[in-house]
Amino acid sequence: MRTFTASKQNIMSKRYTITTALPYTNGPIHIGHLAGVYVPADIYARYLRLTGNDVVLIGGSDEHGVPITIKAKNEGVTPQDIVDKYHAIIKKSFEDFGISFDNYSRTSASIHHKTASEFFKTLNEKGEFIEETTEQLYDAEANQFLADRFVTGTCPKCGNEEAYGDQCEKCGTSLNATDLINPKSTLTGNTPTLKETKHWFLPLNKHEDFLKKWILEGHKKDWKPNVYGQVKSWIDDGLRPRAVTRDLDWGIPVPAEGGEGKVLYVWFDAPIGYISSTIEWAEREGKDWEPYWKDENTKLIHFIGKDNIVFHCIIFPSMLKAEGSYILPENVPANEFLNLEGNKLSTSKNWAVWLPEYLEEFPDQQDVLRYVLTANAPETKDNDFTWKDFQARNNNELVAIFGNFINRVVVLTNKYYDGVVPEPNDFTDVDLETLAAVKAYPNVIASSIERYRFREAGQELMNLARLGNKYLADAEPWKVIKEDEARTKTIMYVALQIASALATLSEPFLPFTSKKLKSILKVSSSAVENSWNDISEKEVLLPANHQIGKAELLFSKIEDKTIQEQLDKLEASKKANEAANKTIEPQKDVITFEDFTKLDIRVGTILEAEKMPKTKKLLVLKVDTGIDTRTIVSGIAESFSPEEVVGKKVTVLVNLAPRKLRGVESQGMILMTETPEGKLVFVNPDDNDSVKPGLQIS
Ligand code: 2FM
Ligand code: ZN
Repeated sequence: MRTFTASKQNIMSKRYTITTALPYTNGPIHIGHLAGVYVPADIYARYLRLTGNDVVLIGGSDEHGVPITIKAKNEGVTPQDIVDKYHAIIKKSFEDFGISFDNYSRTSASIHHKTASEFFKTLNEKGEFIEETTEQLYDAEANQFLADRFVTGTCPKCGNEEAYGDQCEKCGTSLNATDLINPKSTLTGNTPTLKETKHWFLPLNKHEDFLKKWILEGHKKDWKPNVYGQVKSWIDDGLRPRAVTRDLDWGIPVPAEGGEGKVLYVWFDAPIGYISSTIEWAEREGKDWEPYWKDENTKLIHFIGKDNIVFHCIIFPSMLKAEGSYILPENVPANEFLNLEGNKLSTSKNWAVWLPEYLEEFPDQQDVLRYVLTANAPETKDNDFTWKDFQARNNNELVAIFGNFINRVVVLTNKYYDGVVPEPNDFTDVDLETLAAVKAYPNVIASSIERYRFREAGQELMNLARLGNKYLADAEPWKVIKEDEARTKTIMYVALQIASALATLSEPFLPFTSKKLKSILKVSSSAVENSWNDISEKEVLLPANHQIGKAELLFSKIEDKTIQEQLDKLEASKKANEAANKTIEPQKDVITFEDFTKLDIRVGTILEAEKMPKTKKLLVLKVDTGIDTRTIVSGIAESFSPEEVVGKKVTVLVNLAPRKLRGVESQGMILMTETPEGKLVFVNPDDNDSVKPGLQIS
């Protein structure tokens, strides 16, 4: 067994402002959001709180921007209707999944309008903007300037033909709409014209030297390579002034002369949303918000996905620097993307696991998803979520290791000692090594969390449960009890110490489970509840004579059937997408009327049907054609069972030259069509008694 030595942590309370990307309120959120941003941020914040730091975890809805106006237009409602609906849905999902926001605000709130307007005014008064009238893309038919998602075109950097007017999602480059090659309006499909308009630009080039020094020199070692690499490449390409206002009517009005009819660019106002949300929190809690944003000793951390890197590492810091009184982020631990079953998550293609749906289908199993998303977090590269892996991690780790260990400890303590923690006797070397190993875990897990390695941290937590499981399996108290009661007490005492450590150390990762476990061990809010550091520092985590409660299952096995239902749901989405994208075949070459009259098409009735042996697709049918009863071999067995088709009236081409299929002569063809979903459907004659077999179709 490995031996660990517990070292005392040198924890000094620090102030942390932790922000999470504000999601757009144009749809519910899915597992990609949770894995990329909110679960890691929540683990980080919960851990820092447990270790005694002053933490504010900030979230909120990003309610401006073009996608919201497009959705409102498509649904015939106002943008405010859209954001009200999804703000409520998203906020509830976060609560349901235990994301421990200190404040969850929204950018349509008046506090945000005020904060963002003042921020803009300060920069404007300080001369930090360039005001310029330039030619911008314009859609005359829609009477609309085309920026951001109102325009698509080819990315000048990577050639992606579906780049947006502000960003190419393929290569991540931040763009101006006029950079796009072959631009097209997403409103009308028209090629835009150019029209003059005045805007305020943030001269990013002016901040280039500062950005180089601050990031390229200052954060080469501590920022994630994916983040540092992207930032370096943008800076190396040279930064240009960037418009921070738009000709739109949904957003925060530009608070400057000549700003009528214009609003702040969504990416100018959204990150200021972190500040407004902090102000809202501080006002509610009777605190001063400024130290959280202006004190050099505060650590500001932005949790985001990789598509947001440029905004959080270049544009927002340039805004903060230009304003002058704010701190800059200490780190921006952006994650890569999570895929689902090998494909990119996509809202429009419904290729996603939506959080509200997950909870309906897996009630009270938030921690399972949190655990799996942490174990598979796309920390250094894009990663795949698969339902099979979800099932395996639940069944083989949460159920078989964590849950099994806790269940055995609690059941045996109740069985042998009526739930009272026994007094230990002499410890063996293995006992002492095990207890020392437990004491090392807070530091091991903390070290991973502090380096933003949440996957590693989650696995270390599971290693602690493994340690407990192995200890019990090796010590076999259920056998020892028969001959050595004193030894059994020591074994159970050691196992209970591990269970107690798990109750505390699991909190950042599995908050619901931790709560339940604390209640089973009866340690919540009592003298025996341990803090993170207590696990290393206290001699006894769960004292002898403490009464614990009865066993309750922490996790339950997920059956193959449940997983298959999820896979079927995705398959249905795939089919629906294929159907939506299926192109209508072009018309065939023109034929003459004589050609047509050569076809003898009649009404028939299927009298008998059976499967052609050793084939998947073929049914052998006996069809009453009105002329005769004949055999027709038809490739419909995957869409119909024999019983389903007997008695059906069908349309038959009776003068098709007979041909042998698997040794059976087929004397005609039944007319069918195929739905976009791939199901065959009969081209049925009217189901009317007077439509009799033999009638010709002409
Ligand atoms: O990508 C997005 O979903 C943006 N709404 C994130 C904004 S983060 C912040 F700046 F508000
Ligand atoms: Zn590109």
